[in-house]
Amino acid sequence: MILNKEPHHLVAPSILSADFSRLGEEVRNVESAGADRLHIDVMDGHFVPNLTIGAPVVKSLKKISTLPLDVHLMVSKPENILSSFISAGADSITIHLESTNYPEKVLKRIRQEKVLAGLTLKPATPVERMFPFLPFLDLVLVMTVEPGFGGQSLLPDQVSNISAVKEELVRQGLNNVPVHVDGGVNLQTLPLLPSADVLVAGHFIFTHKSYKEAISLLKSGSVS
Ligand code: DX5
Ligand code: ZN
Repeated sequence: MILNKEPHHLVAPSILSADFSRLGEEVRNVESAGADRLHIDVMDGHFVPNLTIGAPVVKSLKKISTLPLDVHLMVSKPENILSSFISAGADSITIHLESTNYPEKVLKRIRQEKVLAGLTLKPATPVERMFPFLPFLDLVLVMTVEPGFGGQSLLPDQVSNISAVKEELVRQGLNNVPVHVDGGVNLQTLPLLPSADVLVAGHFIFTHKSYKEAISLLKSGSVS
């Protein structure tokens, strides 16, 4: 295995695959292993068929970690619970376009509170639906699995959304908006994701024997 040593991805471990009975320790471990951000999957059992964690967990993690906390809200009507995640100390909040009738209003409100605003789509939603909202964003999250569960296989037909979003960002003069890629990221799928700015990875990191090695392998960018 030959590794390209030049790092060009940031890595955001998704705590969905962490051992929740030792969450603080798991977070400290990925932090010292070189994680750049922490990806926090919030699911409401309605927008997606799974239920995870809420703002109190974000508040607790804020106390023990200096990593930026990226909250991925997979909830219906995120406008109803935004303020609790803002007060809890979220550094970025990403919402799903399909989850609200007021995406522009919600994104503007997140930014007003000095939190970074992100937008994402379920795989069935055409990527172009996101384009009118790009000027209101600090990050784009490209889903490469159906949201709801960790440890799924990457959907290859979603990969082209990364370049589609990147090209549209350039066209709109928004070159600095980073693209995060979420779902099924591992050493086998990494070669498909050269232009991802931030790799979100849960299962790959938290099941690896060494978090440090797992994160370094993802950061190194390409494996051949
Ligand atoms: C899926 C979540 C992802 C997921 C990624 O709904 O948004 O963040 O936890 O995990 P892996 O890397 O296990 O696919
Ligand atoms: Zn996620």
